[in-house]
Amino acid sequence: MINKIPFALPEIGEPEIQAVTDVMRSDWITTGPKVAEFEAALSGFCGVSHTVCLSSATAGMELVLRLFGIGAGDEVITTPYTFAATANVILHTGAKPVFADIKPGDFNIDPAEIERLITDRTKAVISVDFAGLPADYSEIADVIQRKAGLYRPSMNPYQRQSGRPVFISDAAHSLGANYRGKKIGSQADFTVFSFHAVKNLTTAEGGAILYDQSRWDNAVEIRRKLKLLTLHGQSKDALEKLRAGNWFYSIELAGYKYNMTDMSAAMGLTQLARYDSEILVKRKRICEIYHQAFGAQDWALVPPLSDSMRETSYQVYPLRLSVPDEDKRNLIIQKMGEKGIALNVHFIPLPLHPLYNKLGYSIDDYPSARECYRAEMSLPVYSRLSEDDAYTVTQALIDTVKNI
Ligand SMILES: Cc1ncc(COP(=O)(O)O)c(C=O)c1O
Repeated sequence: MINKIPFALPEIGEPEIQAVTDVMRSDWITTGPKVAEFEAALSGFCGVSHTVCLSSATAGMELVLRLFGIGAGDEVITTPYTFAATANVILHTGAKPVFADIKPGDFNIDPAEIERLITDRTKAVISVDFAGLPADYSEIADVIQRKAGLYRPSMNPYQRQSGRPVFISDAAHSLGANYRGKKIGSQADFTVFSFHAVKNLTTAEGGAILYDQSRWDNAVEIRRKLKLLTLHGQSKDALEKLRAGNWFYSIELAGYKYNMTDMSAAMGLTQLARYDSEILVKRKRICEIYHQAFGAQDWALVPPLSDSMRETSYQVYPLRLSVPDEDKRNLIIQKMGEKGIALNVHFIPLPLHPLYNKLGYSIDDYPSARECYRAEMSLPVYSRLSEDDAYTVTQALIDTVKNI
């Protein structure tokens, strides 16, 4: 009898429970010293000068677009092979998402497609490190630079400063991944991580924007602006405001309510401390077990985990059928479910969702995304999954496919 194996479990143990309890027993639970500590730790871990923590990656991507004053009449290029958050934030600003298909046979955005689609309305490009595997950062940056002549900045000071569309990395999956020998965080103009419950590092809900002063000589001023945007545009955060005699504050802009709590930051700090030495090691081991088993199956196409340029963060293991077949994939997931093993699909391409379909996007325009979707099934990967469980998943999947 096979035990029930969920698709994902959060990275919660006694250290997290202790860290959150300590904050709860302290006199301060919302944004305060723990958030500041977590921001400094993330900057150090990723090798950047600045980090702003907030309530989600979605909030982080939206705030970068807001910082650049992107809105109606503007276009933002991104991939159709992503979670809705990446494109929904573009809609929130009033700008138009322009989808650049993924590379044939690959899950990440195709720089050649970005080049084809850049116009004088393009104000930003958002790439996604799908499953944790870094996008082609250098290629994307080169394409944006090559097309800089088309760029028409508005009066927004950051648009004028950048002199080309801003490059944002949706790195929701890729904390700890490597690109050309460096951890993800400094390759794009702004990098946004997610700490949602199923991510490698979780703060229950949370996210962070990272950027480096080597690209932005006004990095300190940008941090102040982003901090204002996370909390109502208040000139002082809540902790500062409550200091005796320090009650006065002013509202400098119509900011949002996207701040991170100290309880979340305490969880994040605990996990970051063992991220490279424990969390990634365990996730990598599970992916290697899958790789070894499915690399030998002719019906399966294993995902790239590393190459000469990059290494994944092992967030998702996106196995594919070597011959895309949506019905067969669905049946496999159903049969695995009957055995108590939960698989998932990453992602339903955005043009297939009713919202994007109604907005006029058609999957026919994104053949590579469609092919990946018809073949893909994600296997359970989390550090609480034992090696025995990973072997159980591989055997059950091999048997299931054999019997179909
Ligand atoms: C690719 C991608 N981008 C963005 C997000 C949104 O992250 P968050 O839930 O932290 O807003 C997710 C969430 O799963 C995601 O998979």
